[in-house]
Amino acid sequence: IPVEDFDLVIFGGTGDLARRKILPGLFHRYLAGQIPPEARIVGAARSEMDAEGYRAFTREALQEFAPNSCKDGGQVEAFLAMLSYVAIDARGDGGWKELAGLMRPDVVQAFYFSVAPALFGDLAERLHGHGIATEASRIVVEKPFGRDLESARQLNRGLAEYFTEEQIYRIDHYLGKETVQNLMAVRFGNVLFEPLWNAQFVDHIQVTVAETVGVGGRGEYYDKSGAMRDMVQNHLMQLLCLIAMEPPSKFDPDAVRDEKLKVIRALDPVAPEDIVRGQYRAGEDGPSYLEEVGDPRSTTESFIALKVHVANWRWNGTPFYLRTGKRLRARMSEIVVVFKEPPHSIFGDDAGRSANILTIRLQPDEGMTLQVTIKEPGPGGMRLIDVPLDMSFAEALGESGNQMPDAYERLIMDVVRGNQTLFMRGDEVEAAWAWTDPLIAGWEARRDKPQAYHPGTNGPEDSLMLLHRDGRRWRDLEA
Ligand code: BG6
Repeated sequence: IPVEDFDLVIFGGTGDLARRKILPGLFHRYLAGQIPPEARIVGAARSEMDAEGYRAFTREALQEFAPNSCKDGGQVEAFLAMLSYVAIDARGDGGWKELAGLMRPDVVQAFYFSVAPALFGDLAERLHGHGIATEASRIVVEKPFGRDLESARQLNRGLAEYFTEEQIYRIDHYLGKETVQNLMAVRFGNVLFEPLWNAQFVDHIQVTVAETVGVGGRGEYYDKSGAMRDMVQNHLMQLLCLIAMEPPSKFDPDAVRDEKLKVIRALDPVAPEDIVRGQYRAGEDGPSYLEEVGDPRSTTESFIALKVHVANWRWNGTPFYLRTGKRLRARMSEIVVVFKEPPHSIFGDDAGRSANILTIRLQPDEGMTLQVTIKEPGPGGMRLIDVPLDMSFAEALGESGNQMPDAYERLIMDVVRGNQTLFMRGDEVEAAWAWTDPLIAGWEARRDKPQAYHPGTNGPEDSLMLLHRDGRRWRDLEA
């Protein structure tokens, strides 16, 4: 179903995110017939360029980041015809009149702030000062949404001067991933899981977001953030919320976000011995973290593992182990729900027994696996083995499973539709920082140094110990 007609302005329209994600995402939705041909997409950035220049820029971006979708040149050109460009001065007056002239008052208006957060306030002020934004306009903001509670509050306050909460779409692209949304479908669309989804039946939960890449060219930003701010405060926290939350009464933005907020507020502080931070060393195929960020004394973590408690009735006593890091053995994101073992083995202790494990794979190869115990075939008596009930979404869904939309595609269309369910509310972001800040302050005060780990491994030894000492182990990292 096509969305209604809209004007979308991308501030930072020549930036990396626009090139890699926003423009290719819009193009895919256009090909899918979701974007009406009258819609206008306006790139806005500092560089002097005209609409033709921006179309050429976008053509290249599509060829690079959506090559398989560019086969029909006619479609590419039809999409490019929807684009225009304004050279804009975020802190001055240049370009704003021209932008005002491009906007149509009678269609949905969205402004994507794909710029540094320091510019959010300036853009908001000018959109209002020049009479461009209306009460119905929507704005989209990217992470990092602050680097601590105080700066997040300032950003929220700055935006609130000009926009209501209903107008603000804070993106966490993990919420746009198909499998992340599937997590909710699996939990709340089946009767099988929810009765078991609590401390009585779940032994523990693992959330892993492992990457093989290093910080690369993003050293300057990354070294001021580290894995905690870059990944845990937002992406892993969102996954944790969706796993742990109570069933919302309906799939509606505030009903869902109220439940997520309750989870964040129920998080206990994390004890120092339950936090492991790491930094990758140099490997055969790349420099060390310290070389990449150009600071031999940096104590920023490129890996972190945490044991987290959701202190509420449902989860009392079930730990959530979170880990994320760069330059690890495999690119693999998954959620693993490890159920408890059956209370009594009728087959005797030497038959073997183990727990059911539900694995929800986010990437690569999205899917779900449920490990179940069956009888080992053969006449050798009653011996038990574990087998996976495996479901690759791509296989199960056939053609449509191969065309899983990128997270950004879904989220941008949600902005146009006016659906905030998969966007973070201001109080959620602040609550996440309120939990994160003391942990960071703690290791800074203790002057803790991250442990070095070899690239291509599972991260620092101590992160394995985090589970070993509880008699548990991480799932292997494998692509
Ligand atoms: C970003 C982080 O938000 O997410 C990056 O800033 C990280 O450091 C990226 O690499 C991971 O996203 P994805 O979708 O590739 O898992």
